[in-house]
Amino acid sequence: MPIKVRKILVTCALPYANGPIHIGHMLEHIQADIWVRYQRMRGHEVWFISSDDVHGTAIMLHAKNLKISEQDLIKNIHKEHKIDFINFNISYDNYHTTHSIENLFLVRKIFTYLNEKKLFNKKKIVQFYDNQEKIFLPDRFIKGTCPICYADNQYGDACEKCSSIYKPTDLINSISVISGTSPILKETEHLYFDLPIFSDMLKKWIYSGVLDSSVIRKTEEWLKSGLEEWCISRDAPYFGFKIPHFLNKYFYVWLDAPIGYISAFKNLCSNNKNINFNDFWSKNTNSELYHFIGKDIIYFHTLFWPSILEASGFRKPSGIFVHGHVTINGLKLSKSRGFLIKASDWVKYFDSDSLRYYYASKLTNNINDIEMNLDDFMYKINNDIVNKLVNLASRNASFINRYFNGYLSDKLDDYNLYNLFVDSNKKMENFFENREFNLIIKNSMQLLDIANQYINEKKPWAIREKIEKNNRLHIICTMGINLFRIIMTFLKPILPILSKKTELFLISDLIWNDVHTPLLSKKITDFPRLYERISSDKIFQLIQLFK
Ligand code: MSP
Ligand code: ZN
Repeated sequence: MPIKVRKILVTCALPYANGPIHIGHMLEHIQADIWVRYQRMRGHEVWFISSDDVHGTAIMLHAKNLKISEQDLIKNIHKEHKIDFINFNISYDNYHTTHSIENLFLVRKIFTYLNEKKLFNKKKIVQFYDNQEKIFLPDRFIKGTCPICYADNQYGDACEKCSSIYKPTDLINSISVISGTSPILKETEHLYFDLPIFSDMLKKWIYSGVLDSSVIRKTEEWLKSGLEEWCISRDAPYFGFKIPHFLNKYFYVWLDAPIGYISAFKNLCSNNKNINFNDFWSKNTNSELYHFIGKDIIYFHTLFWPSILEASGFRKPSGIFVHGHVTINGLKLSKSRGFLIKASDWVKYFDSDSLRYYYASKLTNNINDIEMNLDDFMYKINNDIVNKLVNLASRNASFINRYFNGYLSDKLDDYNLYNLFVDSNKKMENFFENREFNLIIKNSMQLLDIANQYINEKKPWAIREKIEKNNRLHIICTMGINLFRIIMTFLKPILPILSKKTELFLISDLIWNDVHTPLLSKKITDFPRLYERISSDKIFQLIQLFK
C-alpha cells in the first residue's frame, strides 16, 4: 500500500559565525541529516535547511580583533562552514545566512506587526558599560567573582563552579572582558516583548506532543516560576539589523536568528519554484516542522520562538528535537580549555562516515550528554564496520567473482532467514522515526552476527562440489550478499559514503522497500575497497594536536 507523502521541513540550530564548526556542533547536523535521509528514503517531501547566525556583539568584536569588516568575517566563515557540512555529507537543501535580504525583510515585517499589536514595551534600565570602549556589555563580556560561592573569573550570567544564575550587577569586582577596566552603570532604554501573555498558550502547547518528556520537564520549571518580559533590543555599537524609529538600537541577535529559519526557507523557495512557502509556514498547514537543537538553547525554542510565531500568525513547530552535549574523553569541548576538535581537522585523520556511525551508535531521543571516547571509537569502527559488515560482503563476493563470473544465483539458500532480516524493517522504521539511532546500530549488529554465523556454519570455503550455477556454494554466497544488502539498506541514512560504494559494488541502489525482493541472477562488480581500518597511530596524532 503506498504510504501518504508527508511534507516535512527540518532545521538545525544556526551555528554562530564567530568560529569553526567543531565535532560537538557536528552531532546535531549528523543527527538531523540521518533523520532527513531516512525520511527521503521513505519517499516523503523533505526540505532541510540551516544558516549561519551572524549577528551580535561577539562577532562584531571578533571582526575588530582580526581588523576586518564584519561582512568579510561572516563571508569567510560561511565558506568554511559550508565546506565542513559538505565534508560530512550533511544534505542541506539550503545553508543560508541571517545577514540576508530575506531575513531583514521578515524581521522588520514581524516587528512592525507585533508593534501594531502593542506587544512591545519601552523601559529604562541601568546596565554595565565599558567607559573606555564606549560599549554596553553583554553578560558574557563581564567577569568577576561569583556572589554565591566566591569562585573567581566567572561570567556575568552564571557561575561555572556552582551553577548559580545571577544578574551581572551581582558579581563581585566585575571587570569588562574587552578592556579589562571596571565597568560603570549607565542608563539606557530598551524594548521588551510581552512574553507573559503567552503563558497560557505555552502551557497548552508543551503538552501537545511536540516535546519529549525531559524537555517538557525543563520548560515546565520556567513556566512555573513565571515568565518575564523579554528584552529584544541592543545598543549601538552592534552588528545586526537596526530597529526602525528607535535611534541607535538594534534587534537582539536571538530575535533575528530563529526568524532565520523562515528566511532560509524563503530563500530556498526563491531558488526552487516548485516549493510553496505557505504550505510550510501558514497557520493551518498540515506540513510538519522540526527543529533539531542542543539542550543549552531549549528556552529560546520552547518559550520565545513559539510565542513569536503565534503572535505573528505563523505556524508553530511540530516538534523540537533536543540532544545532549558531546564530551571528549570526559572533557567538555571548549575553546578556552583547548580541547576542541574542528570538523576540518577530523577529516584529515578519519573519514566522515566513521563519526556519523559512532554518533549514531550513541544517539537516543533524550537529552543525555554523549561521551566520545577515542579508544572506544576506534574499537567500534574496526569491529563493527570492518570486521563484521564489510567482511560479510567480502567473504562472499570473492567466491561469486572467482567461480561464478560475478553473477548471483537464481535463488537463495534460506528464504526463512532472508525473511527474518526483511521483517526487521518495521522495527527499524520505528527506531528511525523516533530518533533511536543507537537501536538501529544495535539491531543491525545483531543481524550481522546472525549472518556471519550462518556463513560460518555453511563453510563455503570447504565446499568441494563441481562448480556450476546454483550449486550450494553459489546459493550460500548469494544469500550472504543479500543479507549484507538488507543491512546496508538499513544503514544507508547513517553511512552515505559506504552505501554509495555498496551501490556501485552491487550495481543496484539501496532502496527501502526493495529489501522485500532479493537480488538474484544479477552481476556484481569485483570486490572494491569498501572501508579503511582505523589505526591507533591516527588517534594518537589527533590527540597530539591538543597537547
Ligand atoms: N546561534 C545559536 C543558535 C540559534 S538557533 C536560532 C547557537 N549557536 S552555537 O553555534 O552556539 O550552537 C549551535 C548548536 O550546536 C546548538 O544547538 C548547540 O547546542 C550545539 N552545540 C554546540 N556545542 C555542542 C556540543 N559540544 N555538543 C553537542 N552540541 C553542541 O546556539
Ligand atoms: Zn559560584
